[in-house]
Amino acid sequence: MRKKVDFLVIGSGIAGLSYALKVAEHGNVCLVTKSNAAETATKYAQGGIAAVMYTPDTYDKHIRDTMIAGDELSNPEIVRLTIRESTERIKELIEWGAQFDKEASGKYDLAMEGGHSEHRVFHHKDHTGLEIERALLKKAEEHPNIEILENHFTLDIITQHHLNQDVNRRTPDITCYGAYVLNPETQEIHTILGKITLLATGGAGMVYNTTTNPNIATGDGIAMVYRAKGQVENMEFIQFHPTSLYNPGEKPSFLITEALRGYGAVLKTHNENEFMDHYDERGSLAPRDIVARAIDNEMKLGGEDHVYLDCRHLDSNGLIKNFPTIYAKCLSIGIDITKEMIPVVPAAHYFCGGIKVDEYASTSIRNLYASGECASTGLHGANRLASNSLLESAVFSHRASIDAIKHVKELHYCDNIPDWNAEGTVLNEEMILITQSYKEVQTIMSSYVGIVRSDLRLKRALDRLEIIYRETDELYEKSILTVRICELRNLLNVAYLVIKMAMQRKESRGLHYSLDYPKHIEDQND
Ligand code: FAD
Ligand code: SIN
Repeated sequence: MRKKVDFLVIGSGIAGLSYALKVAEHGNVCLVTKSNAAETATKYAQGGIAAVMYTPDTYDKHIRDTMIAGDELSNPEIVRLTIRESTERIKELIEWGAQFDKEASGKYDLAMEGGHSEHRVFHHKDHTGLEIERALLKKAEEHPNIEILENHFTLDIITQHHLNQDVNRRTPDITCYGAYVLNPETQEIHTILGKITLLATGGAGMVYNTTTNPNIATGDGIAMVYRAKGQVENMEFIQFHPTSLYNPGEKPSFLITEALRGYGAVLKTHNENEFMDHYDERGSLAPRDIVARAIDNEMKLGGEDHVYLDCRHLDSNGLIKNFPTIYAKCLSIGIDITKEMIPVVPAAHYFCGGIKVDEYASTSIRNLYASGECASTGLHGANRLASNSLLESAVFSHRASIDAIKHVKELHYCDNIPDWNAEGTVLNEEMILITQSYKEVQTIMSSYVGIVRSDLRLKRALDRLEIIYRETDELYEKSILTVRICELRNLLNVAYLVIKMAMQRKESRGLHYSLDYPKHIEDQND
């Protein structure tokens, strides 16, 4: 199948859907998503979306909190514009039908999370993402200009490289003409030409053994841009959420929202000792990098594989009313959170880096935008402030839509793009070659590139990865393509970028902690 659209969108989370709804007023949209449309990280977001709405909160306070969490690496201009647009974007989500909890007075009930100096997190009980995804998807499904292709896997973006022109990282005008998309059911590879393409492919938590991310989070968009010689940055800054439910064998890990700590829950050791005050004056509500590292340290000191989160002192009715999903989930594995402590462990949660974009979400490749978790906007710096990512997605998809709508009228399709060439490929009968490599990548990353790193661990990770990379590349070249082999290839790309960028950072900053360089670069001569 060959198809031509004004706007091609890859991804059906908050970033893809909110952009699609805007550009659909100015042309036809094809939105491609590799699973069912609702299966996104967006759907699993619990805590909520941060925005400034009422006094005593102010834009300046939210800006300051974001800068502090980012450990001086956030781009101040980007932080300012994102926070200043937060109120408008929340109002828009509400207009689109998303419902956020209110107090009896009619004011929105704003929650507190780690690193925030005010209550500013809009939420829908403890399943905010599900509510946002529901509202946006309904709107998109009803829109006459939006076609949604579910269970279709984007293989690669199309550039001059596919016209047999030489493209390297110094080529100044790399241009995106659309994407090749696999229908795994028919094994057909479609050529979808788009005047403008948006990547909204989400994160890459699946590169680790233990992650809160759904299976779709394999870093496909980031890998596509890297392969197309576009710019990717800050990949070493991977956020480990301090509190995923310790329930061995469950994948992905179930998240225990930070909002529960905002509500008063406290971290404790197996001996029921509170420990966060030894690490930071903000205690259990310190920013995530600090809390995750503290837990990691306590687990190593005690030789334990988890710590506890204690809610037993909180009003049980309020707890059950505000956190029904967590209450039900824990009960399903035999833990009554009103009476027992919750076993928790850090898990890979969020990629702060990704495809480098400017203030309008433009990538280094022409006619290609990126928004959401796959993008690196400069907002998060070295560490993301809780609940700032749904906000970032809404803000940058809005900004991308403004720029895309402005330019789409000037653009033409590139008609001489060839169809995908699958000549000489054969069916790979041995799935074990892929599944085993997939697990090996996750083990390498979890063992050597986790919360605490060192030069030796990173080098070991890179050496091990190179073998799997070579084997996978050979297999890819000769195989009829499947989603699984493509995801493995993408994960390998992502793992490589994380390790390389971690090796280049000769300091500890935010989420990147190195035993060899425990200080910020500017403090190393002290
Ligand atoms: P996603 O919502 O992940 O969507 C990605 C889309 O891309 C999917 O539709 C997927 O199918 C599609 N896709 C990917 N690759 C391909 C491909 N090759 N071809 C076709 N389609 C593809 N953030 C907050 O701000 N507040 C929170 O409370 C919060 N809680 C969270 C809780 C959990 C458990 C998790 C995992 C994350 C949480 N986050 C939270 C982070 C936040 O949910 C994500 O960063 C955000 O939802 C990302 O949105 P997105 O649109 O970029 O990507
Ligand atoms: C959470 O609810 O703790 C997750 C919030 C986030 O990732 O921003």
